[in-house]
Amino acid sequence: MSWNFEEIRQKALQEIFAITEANELESLRVKYLGRKGLIAQIFSSLTSLSDDQRPLVGKNTNELRNEITQFIEEKKKEIQQLKEKGDAQESLDITIPGVAVELGHQHILIQTMDEICGIFENLGFAVYEGPEIETEFNNFTALNIPVDHPSRDAFDTFYLKVEDPTNKGRYLLLRSHTSPSQIRIMQEFTPPLAVVVPGKVYRPDAVDASHSFMFHQIEGLLVDQGIKFSDLKGLLSIFCKRLFGENIKMRFRPHFFPFTEPSAEVDISCYICEGKGCSVCGRKGWLEIMGCGMVHPKVFQHVGYPKGKYTGLAFGMGVERMAMLKYGINDIRIFFENDLRFLRQF
Ligand code: DAH
Repeated sequence: MSWNFEEIRQKALQEIFAITEANELESLRVKYLGRKGLIAQIFSSLTSLSDDQRPLVGKNTNELRNEITQFIEEKKKEIQQLKEKGDAQESLDITIPGVAVELGHQHILIQTMDEICGIFENLGFAVYEGPEIETEFNNFTALNIPVDHPSRDAFDTFYLKVEDPTNKGRYLLLRSHTSPSQIRIMQEFTPPLAVVVPGKVYRPDAVDASHSFMFHQIEGLLVDQGIKFSDLKGLLSIFCKRLFGENIKMRFRPHFFPFTEPSAEVDISCYICEGKGCSVCGRKGWLEIMGCGMVHPKVFQHVGYPKGKYTGLAFGMGVERMAMLKYGINDIRIFFENDLRFLRQF
């Protein structure tokens, strides 16, 4: 019997090539390589060949067997890979809702600052930002805070180990309030001016429910000819009503600040007990919300304004405190802990 090896090879390859299922491949393997398969038949026919034909046919048969074995192996791998891919595709359930990309939003303190600055912007104020690293001159001296004032103490102010290049003080410091921006604004602009300054301030306070070594303030400054204390009262009354609601009551309590004269603290009626007295307001019925006053003539002198030409009003408030009062938050630390359960409420 003679065999056309090339024909067998071609046919086997075509058959293997067309296979898509593992069990079909197995029948093909049996057909060609099995114990009673074609290759085995060829081998058993070798005995009937002449001595000179046998080695060549044997060699060809071996080659054909190796080749078919190799094709079957490759096909096996291909089927396996397709199957794995198919499994992976099946496990992709496109009906499962996707993972939503959560959009962040502004921190409650930024929202509060924007709201407060927005109220003043509607009243014609500009927003200005000063640096957090300040000179002793701007933070204290120009604001008429005497050299021996306790707030200048290193226990109450963070001093930097950087010498003051202006030589008007020894070291630079982290501003302990936003009031030094008043000095910068007045040195840069001539009145009339009306500005609010939001920003961070720093004090070496031990952190507790009402203290933080860093917090935010908003400073206000309005300077022109003929500004009176009644302008201050009117302005802050409008502000408090817009922020806390028309029904809020206010009072101005005499106080002392070195950079304003006269000075006052502003209280609003307690939002919890509406003035009756409770634990939030310490049974007083009132909550202190800011300091204010008429710009001290010495401050005008420090910035080089002509004596007696201008009068002005100034005020300063803590943003955390305003947010705590407005939203009933009782611990300042929660603003800075990045706890999303808190932050998402606003
Ligand atoms: N700078 C003051 C503080 O940090 C707050 C303040 C009080 C600012 C009275 C003012 C003001 O502009 O007039 O306690």
